[in-house]
Amino acid sequence: MIYLNGEYMPIAEAKIPVMDRGFLFGDGVYEVIPVYSRHPFRLPEHLRRLENSLAGIRISNPHTPAEWTALIGKIIANADSDDQQVYLQVTRGADSRRNHAFPEQVTPTVFIMSEPLAAPSAELCAQGVSAITAADYRWMRCDLKSVSLLANCLLRQLAVDAGCSETVLLRDGFLSEGSSSNIFVVKQGVLLAPQKNHLMLPGVTYDVVLELAAAHGLEYAVRDVLEEEVRQADELWLSSSTREVQPIVTLDGRAIGAGKPGPLFAAMYGWYQEFKRSVMRGH
Ligand code: PDD
Repeated sequence: MIYLNGEYMPIAEAKIPVMDRGFLFGDGVYEVIPVYSRHPFRLPEHLRRLENSLAGIRISNPHTPAEWTALIGKIIANADSDDQQVYLQVTRGADSRRNHAFPEQVTPTVFIMSEPLAAPSAELCAQGVSAITAADYRWMRCDLKSVSLLANCLLRQLAVDAGCSETVLLRDGFLSEGSSSNIFVVKQGVLLAPQKNHLMLPGVTYDVVLELAAAHGLEYAVRDVLEEEVRQADELWLSSSTREVQPIVTLDGRAIGAGKPGPLFAAMYGWYQEFKRSVMRGH
């Protein structure tokens, strides 16, 4: 069952008009919220980021946080799995004609669905993943979670074509993020995270990683990270709501550190799994 504009229905029955600006222009924003044991993780934080994305593209939020919570709660309750990823999308809505400028009167399209969430396996985290780098040619508002993901899709496909799982994006000699994840560097025992700005998405999982580092006394610094620091990292990690934290062990075909997950990743992986068990599942 999905939610579309005030109604719950089977996904096969959900239809949107071809004149929807989300379809014509990618004119909309979205969120992906991980759900553990039917508890949405950091829902207020996701709803705040949604509010910020909506404000950034000048759509007024169609729902209050309480309304969103109720709508999402019903989707979660009716889904098959206990662990889920809730996807929600708001577009500016459908116009009567195609025009780049906003219509004067338009009702946003609101869509919510849930899909099963499979955590990355322990084997994958023990083995690590491969990544490539690419120039970050996206726009200058990467802080907005826009559905205009063409650049992200093209950049991710480069990784897939190379048999890798993520593309690490570099802009003007600095690390921005991954095609659909945030990226961390470990150098000489210090965790380095690029600072949140208009060139990256402020990840909810990124916050969790830094909180866990702080809670367990892992030294970290939030600052601009140089391309050179990425290439010469002792460890490289990616994070996202659906991929948790994963170690990148090769970059552009060259080993990162020893070419296997490092000791700080092993620590972070343990902290993350413990946090998931004791907090995210709502215990
Ligand atoms: N993507 N950066 C980008 C470009 C992303 O698309 C994502 C997440 C992140 C990580 O954010 P968070 O930790 O809040 O999930 C960073 C989602 C999962 C997606 O598009 O499916």
